[in-house]
Amino acid sequence: MLEIIIYFLTTIVLAIWLMVPAYIANPMAVVFGGGTPLDLGMKWPDGQRILGDGKTIKGLIGGTACGIVAGFFQIYLASIFSIQFIPTITVIITLSFGALLGDIVKSFFKRRIGFVRGAELPLIDQLDFVAGAWLLTYIFDPVWFTRHFISSPWIILTVLVLTPILHRLTNIFGYNIKLKKEPW
Ligand code: CTP
Ligand code: MG
Repeated sequence: MLEIIIYFLTTIVLAIWLMVPAYIANPMAVVFGGGTPLDLGMKWPDGQRILGDGKTIKGLIGGTACGIVAGFFQIYLASIFSIQFIPTITVIITLSFGALLGDIVKSFFKRRIGFVRGAELPLIDQLDFVAGAWLLTYIFDPVWFTRHFISSPWIILTVLVLTPILHRLTNIFGYNIKLKKEPW
């Protein structure tokens, strides 16, 4: 029984560890966001904004930069504590930038189906950045991605279950400190 609990907890800690750059990039886009929108205010032929005011240049750059800094800190920690699960520099970049790219692509489709900026799309709003981070990492470092995610389905499952919970908690916090307009 104890072994099962330890295995369970280890899986959760490892899943979070492997996702750190994405988990930092996503909320930091909210912290650094604002100002010029990525779509520069332009509209799609359907008359709606391409992305909307919720996706900004500062958010994309600030979020990506914070995720990358967090990833370098992980490499540093991994060398001190001889942790085996080390992100490569490519992976740090793809997890951070991919997370925000996933969020941007989500907003593009949200606008196309007529959801205004900020409207809630349950589960998709919470997992868009995971999908983007994983896809970009798989494309640029398939060996790392296969070793750390594809070959451990439990890690994938843990991330998919844990992320919406963490996302929700972070957003309720962001809403309470008036950083975010909606608690989702
Ligand atoms: N944000 C940003 N730039 C990004 C991502 C997020 O500036 N690339 C900031 C925006 O201020 C945004 C807030 O973070 O309003 C919350 O992000 P999110 O929930 O992803 O955007 P929404 O405003 O809900 O817009 P959408 O409906 O397009 O998801
Ligand atoms: Mg939102």
